[in-house]
Amino acid sequence: MKILAIETSCDETVLALVEGKGGLRRPRFKVLENIVSSQIKIHRPFGGVVPNLAKREHLKNLPILYRQVFANLKSKIRNSKQIQNSKFQIPNVDLITVTVGPGLEPCLWAGINFAKSLAKENKKRIIGGNHLEGHLYSFLLSHKKPIKFPAIGLIVSGGHTILLKMDSLTKWKKVGETRDDAVGEAFDKVARILGLPYPGGPEVEKLARHGKATIDFPRPMITHKNYDFSFSGLKTSVLYYLRNQSPKAISYKLKANIAASFQEAAIDVLIQKTVKAAREFGAETIILGGGVATNKKLRNNLGKETRKLGLELLVPQWKFNTDNAAMIAVASYINCLKGKKYKITAQANLNM
Ligand code: KG4
Ligand code: ZN
Repeated sequence: MKILAIETSCDETVLALVEGKGGLRRPRFKVLENIVSSQIKIHRPFGGVVPNLAKREHLKNLPILYRQVFANLKSKIRNSKQIQNSKFQIPNVDLITVTVGPGLEPCLWAGINFAKSLAKENKKRIIGGNHLEGHLYSFLLSHKKPIKFPAIGLIVSGGHTILLKMDSLTKWKKVGETRDDAVGEAFDKVARILGLPYPGGPEVEKLARHGKATIDFPRPMITHKNYDFSFSGLKTSVLYYLRNQSPKAISYKLKANIAASFQEAAIDVLIQKTVKAAREFGAETIILGGGVATNKKLRNNLGKETRKLGLELLVPQWKFNTDNAAMIAVASYINCLKGKKYKITAQANLNM
């Protein structure tokens, strides 16, 4: 099944062409194209994403990326000796999919309207994609082997922190989520407190490399019996810690120590709860997804804990951690086979 996927839920316009095969038992994917147009430079002066600016950029970028996807394929075909003499034909697309949520409503609409008109013009089937399912399944873009279940899924993004118990790829139960800020949001807010630019997560990680985790910030809800998270109090502790320092004491070194200590506290909570869930539910596998999965400390520490338990950790390939459209193609391939449908309308708070 060849899928054209469109993702515009936040500040990246992304178009992907992905080939899916193997069915629900052994789904495998080949990413033919995944072209990203990032808006970081546009939103940076505002310290965060401005929804209407983002929408304007999506509207401008979508037709450009669409042409680019097919121009790239055309040149690949031309360069291939085997078919040098054959005429170029736009490869058959079996399905068009577009993120319908969760995300910023004006941004979602930009992608949805574009996808709808493409589907109509080309008489193609269109289905809605769930951004969170995309993050959950993004490891499948590089993982080809069978997956052992039960599994624990941990989704860590700018808007969500979710823990799932999965009995199969399509059967899961949410066992915990954040009660206030998402972990990525906490990274972004701490970055702002430390005077770092947007997007804050990668900046906090970079700064943390130059510091030591010497400050004992709280690990919210770490000992609670449930699997919920809370990151708002941790962020406030960072704010108060910095406020209580005399201006003279606020050096680069101190900020680096704060970044390292905050990062360690946030990661400790994520890992401890995930490991606890893996033990309780007898998991064989841990699946990690979402933008915060880019964080090396999180990947490494979770990897260590997973190995101690004799489990397998499945993570997305680097470039598919943050928002992309290939992951939406994967989620929609799976939903298509399962017969799960989302309305093709913007759903800012769509859940999983
Ligand atoms: O999944 P994503 O690209 O978009 C959403 O669906 O939200 O995640 C973006 C979030 C942002 O909060 C960003 O700061 C965070 O992921 N992030 C990181 C890192 N890279 C991105 N957080 C911590 N460390 C990183 N290296
Ligand atoms: Zn995302």
